[in-house]
Amino acid sequence: AYTAEPFVPERGDLAALRRAAAGCRGCPLHRDATQTVFGDGDVDARVMLVGEQPGDQEDRQGKPFVGPAGKLLDRALAEAGSDPGEAYVTNAVKHFKFTRAEPRKRRIHKAPGLREMTACGPWLAAELALVEPELIVVLGATAGKALLGSSLRVTQVRGTVLEEEIHGRPERLVPTVHPPPSSRLRSSREVPPAVLRAEDREGAYQGLVADLKVGARLLT
Ligand code: URA
Ligand code: SF4
Repeated sequence: AYTAEPFVPERGDLAALRRAAAGCRGCPLHRDATQTVFGDGDVDARVMLVGEQPGDQEDRQGKPFVGPAGKLLDRALAEAGSDPGEAYVTNAVKHFKFTRAEPRKRRIHKAPGLREMTACGPWLAAELALVEPELIVVLGATAGKALLGSSLRVTQVRGTVLEEEIHGRPERLVPTVHPPPSSRLRSSREVPPAVLRAEDREGAYQGLVADLKVGARLLT
């Protein structure tokens, strides 16, 4: 099975983890992506935000949530009363998975599968062990399945506080949807993003803010 395990150093700080992750060959996703996009933030952060995987912009810049979804997330966090700069931000999968309709055309995001989530899990476990956040904000279905198992239905538990053992440690989590304009927003209805109506987007955004407030209140 694919796994990052042999690439994860047994000891060392976040900088050491990041250096090691740059050379990860734990699953095939490293082959086509530009670089590993490791987590970003302070080791003392009280909150860890976990997304799905880097997108196109993140893959180019090497940092999580710097593209359109990240901009929206920052806005939602601020509106919910937390400081986006204070969170440790990472993804369940550290390489961009994509497809192209035609050679040299735009790269189209592809959701990572269970194999890649499982392969990449040791990096997330190592980040959790070092940062020891008081709260994990789970951004969307992929992060939810990576952390809480493949039977998790994010739509059923979003905005609630879960207490679960993750990689052998008791953790407190608040799941929510992935920040729009991501495709994962459309959970049950398979509507292409361009067709997502403005009011749906606004409703989804307000839902995200409401869930993030649940997390923000836990820390005050
Ligand atoms: N979406 C994610 O899940 N993670 C990122 O880093 C960017 C977009
Ligand atoms: Fe390693 Fe994760 Fe990248 Fe796969 S996606 S190569 S496991 S860092």
